[in-house]
Amino acid sequence: MANNWELSRFLDTLRFFQTLPFVGSLEPLRPMLAPLLPDLFTSPAYRGSGLVVVTGATGRTGQAVVKALLRQGYAVRALVRDRPKAEQVLPTQSAVEIVVADITQPLPADLMQGSRAVIHCIGTVIQPQPDAPPPGLAIVGDSPEAVEFNGMRHLLERAQPYFQQQPTTYPLFDYRYPTPPLKEVWGALDDVVMGGVSASQFYLREHSALFTGTVSTANSGGFVSIRTRNLTPPLNLQGYTGLQLRLRGDGQRYKCFLRSDPAWDGVGYAISFDTVADQWITVTLPFSHFIPVVRARTATDASPLNLGQIYSLQLMLSKFEYDGALNPHFRAGAFSLELESIHAYGGSPLPQIIHVSSAGVTRPGRSDVGDQRQPLAVQYNDQLGGILTWKLAAENMLRQSGLPYTIVRPCGLTDNPGGQHLRLDHGDTLTGQLSRADLAEFLVALLNLPTACYRTVEVAATDQAAGTTPSWSALLAQLPSDRP
Ligand SMILES: NC(=O)c1ccc[n+]([C@@H]2O[C@H](COP(=O)([O-])OP(=O)(O)OC[C@H]3O[C@@H](n4cnc5c(N)ncnc54)[C@H](OP(=O)(O)O)[C@@H]3O)[C@@H](O)[C@H]2O)c1
Repeated sequence: MANNWELSRFLDTLRFFQTLPFVGSLEPLRPMLAPLLPDLFTSPAYRGSGLVVVTGATGRTGQAVVKALLRQGYAVRALVRDRPKAEQVLPTQSAVEIVVADITQPLPADLMQGSRAVIHCIGTVIQPQPDAPPPGLAIVGDSPEAVEFNGMRHLLERAQPYFQQQPTTYPLFDYRYPTPPLKEVWGALDDVVMGGVSASQFYLREHSALFTGTVSTANSGGFVSIRTRNLTPPLNLQGYTGLQLRLRGDGQRYKCFLRSDPAWDGVGYAISFDTVADQWITVTLPFSHFIPVVRARTATDASPLNLGQIYSLQLMLSKFEYDGALNPHFRAGAFSLELESIHAYGGSPLPQIIHVSSAGVTRPGRSDVGDQRQPLAVQYNDQLGGILTWKLAAENMLRQSGLPYTIVRPCGLTDNPGGQHLRLDHGDTLTGQLSRADLAEFLVALLNLPTACYRTVEVAATDQAAGTTPSWSALLAQLPSDRP
């Protein structure tokens, strides 16, 4: 039979997954190999996916949030009031959609259509003005009442009908809004690693992704698959019931694998699912139905799947089911599986409105805080149009909305490059500064954290460098919820 096994595809596979099949990860060899092959150890930037609305996207925080979202795999709908400015300061790419609107007026009816969340970065514009009375700052343009309070009302008018109908799902891979990091995290893993000649590809289309190619049983082969590189940090799917895949197949039976171990060839947890040729269907895969397997052999003594750390996902078309049984809906030749999305379902809500407010909103007039060391906005709240008072009123409106939210109250913002560890607090006594870049990373991380829901959190930089990714989930869980 055919013997046209391709060494180059085999090497591409090893390189992509940074591994040697049956041997394991190349990680221990990193010191030796990294100087020779510097790009071998690059990790995928993917952290999440789906469409996120960013308001105030041309502002300094807004721009940092857009950058962080795109880098991590999200698509952006940017709400701006000045299109030429947006075209100048925002990255030009298909993953950025620009919507022009003024928050002091009713917003476009379809602003939230298709989105998973909004990060609200609009704020009253305040600028230094030397001839202004102390503190030498003046409001430019719309008043705090119009921007903060009426703005929140207009935002909620659009968010409420749309987000209230959303089920509590966690969008893991949303190909309706494809972005490069979303593609780079998946790689083909075919029977070429065992001498076979099957060949698959995975590529993005306008609003979906396609896993396609040819599966061959020549050279004792018979499988094609796509697998994610190990996700860092791993996904935490604790509290969710299973996966939901929106897909259009070719009538064959496929498998889905999860791995809660970073080892290349460790135990996988598998489930089979059938597709209907040329029809879009939603496939529901409860975690309780996944079975432990090592390659295609069931591993009855394996420990249960650890949903708290899912390192990789894999989709496979194989000649075999499990323990040597044949896949009854398999045929060699061309195959096609088009994916619209992969969600985890049945869990706690994720924040859908992430609101950038300000530290100090409760401090004007508070007797337990001294005036002198307070930020200028606290000391001069009245002279600045009651900015903090209106920000607090906007927060309260959001708390009463019934939507899953997180209110973030940053201390003084800087344009430093960032990279500092952040401190989280509650009670509105925190003072200090943080960079907009670090704030943006934090805001984007909240999108996938159920523990962030219904919390109000103050944030400032510490003097420590950030180091490894902090466990925001655990830190947030230590703060009181707004819903006791
Ligand atoms: N600066 C600080 O030290 C500090 C501290 C704590 C909290 N905060 C809060 O953090 C948030 C971000 O702060 P920042 O300093 O990064 O903000 P910024 O650069 O001043 O950006 C404010 C954004 O709001 C937009 N905006 C203002 N009025 C609008 C309107 N009527 N309609 C639509 N968009 C409007 C601006 O649009 P244009 O781009 O067109 O001007 C701009 O994009 C704000 O809520 C701020 O109050 C700031």
